Amino acid sequence: MHLTLKSSLLAEIAVDWLVVGVWEKESLAGPASILDAKLGGLLSRLHESGDITGKARELTPIYEPASIPAKRVLVVGLGPRDKADYALLLSCAAAAAKMLSLKPTQAVAFLLPEGTLFLDAAVVLCACAAGFYQGFSSPGLRKSVIERTAPTELCLLTAQPDGSLQESLRRAEIEGRASNLARELVNLPPCDLYPDTFAERAREIAVKSGLEFQILDEEQLVVERMNALLAVARGSERPPRLVVLRHFKGGDRPALALVGKGVTFDSGGLSLKTTDQMVDMKCDMAGAAAVLAAMQAIAELQIPVNVFGVMALVENMPSGKAMKLGDVLKARNGKTIEVLNTDAEGRLILADALAYALDLKAGHIVDLATLTGACMVALGADVAGLMGNQEAWSQKVLAAAQAAGEKAWPLPMFPHYREMIKSDIADMKNTGGSRYAGAISAAKFLEEFVGDTPWVHLDIAGPSWAEKENATREAGGTGCFVRTLVELARSYGM
Ligand code: BES
Ligand code: MN
Ligand code: ZN
Repeated sequence: MHLTLKSSLLAEIAVDWLVVGVWEKESLAGPASILDAKLGGLLSRLHESGDITGKARELTPIYEPASIPAKRVLVVGLGPRDKADYALLLSCAAAAAKMLSLKPTQAVAFLLPEGTLFLDAAVVLCACAAGFYQGFSSPGLRKSVIERTAPTELCLLTAQPDGSLQESLRRAEIEGRASNLARELVNLPPCDLYPDTFAERAREIAVKSGLEFQILDEEQLVVERMNALLAVARGSERPPRLVVLRHFKGGDRPALALVGKGVTFDSGGLSLKTTDQMVDMKCDMAGAAAVLAAMQAIAELQIPVNVFGVMALVENMPSGKAMKLGDVLKARNGKTIEVLNTDAEGRLILADALAYALDLKAGHIVDLATLTGACMVALGADVAGLMGNQEAWSQKVLAAAQAAGEKAWPLPMFPHYREMIKSDIADMKNTGGSRYAGAISAAKFLEEFVGDTPWVHLDIAGPSWAEKENATREAGGTGCFVRTLVELARSYGM
């Protein structure tokens, strides 16, 4: 899909579909009213009759419109203007794109809505473009008959002169592709995407986008004393990898470390999951996918900042060699861990990956992990849990998520929660010991590996995976938090 921006008069645009947004609870305005005039008042008649209400994501196709060169018009509701934000505009554009993607189209044009009191034109453009990337990305990676397609040409039309918005367009394109990369990685079947193939994919991306990279194999992981990560990997035929990507364009300022959980398949290990629990566990590398995709975007955008991405890649399997309940591991930072549940593997691999990031002299750390079902019990399937060790850094990450239209919510990290992971024989155990506060006891575990460095943990077990499709996206990987990370890198560089 080729994305362009034009400040062109809509009457001249010969496209398969011309998409226009309509606000709810107000009369037609901006581009919608200009188009309405060209159509001889057709839109206002449909508005008056209640066929077009402007409700968010409402779709009204109009075929063979008279007196404009476009073959069809799609009116999409944007909701009330004063409620519009990034996430909402994204969802409206995605809904339009998803509908249009059901039949092959060549050229689509979208009349960008005017900026609102709270959203400037650049944000409107980014949100809408992000939605189009989401809605037009095709599902069914392995279907022999492709069911959905993206147009070859998507043109955004604005009343404003191009110049100031061209930069936003480039950003939208890069972020859209990055989010879809993360989705694709999550959707790939675990027979094809495992630590080695994930690492090779990361290598290709690094080479293409100009990132420095390093791939640590099993031997090097032994040398690096990553024993907790190695213990998780031991049950699998597939050897582990640690991928480190570097984008150092921020002079001598401190570096931001992005750390991702990359369990390419989580069977639970000897604490084997049931079929129902295991069925979607190819998604357990969504944290690493988000880190890889964000690093690609950060490099392509040439953000003047120092960032490295650390991806801990393993497969969690039961076998004769697998780590056992009762095993005690010595992590990279020397702390000892009693393993009481091999299905709490994410925190084990992150322990070493976080310690590694610390040794790389990270100034600030964010980790992303599909870490606990408990986080979904607490916050539901669409909201990430945010836990950290420093309020200011947590606020900064929350602000980035807010700007990117993604939902994260803080969970408390009171000192007394540390007691949940007390072990009788080691420095800590890898479970919380009860069903209560499971997301927090996992975060308390991770906290043991970040020293005093400001750190935020995002538990994305819920939002990284969509159980069912909806009007704005198909089921499967969602590409969540890629945009948040890019936004964070941007603000970190300032
Ligand atoms: N990968 C899972 C968490 C998960 C659950 C992600 C559902 C996405 C959807 C993680 O490794 C896990 O198994 N966590 C356990 C921890 C428990 C054993 C302490 C859990 O949440 O049950
Ligand atoms: Mn698990
Ligand atoms: Zn897991």
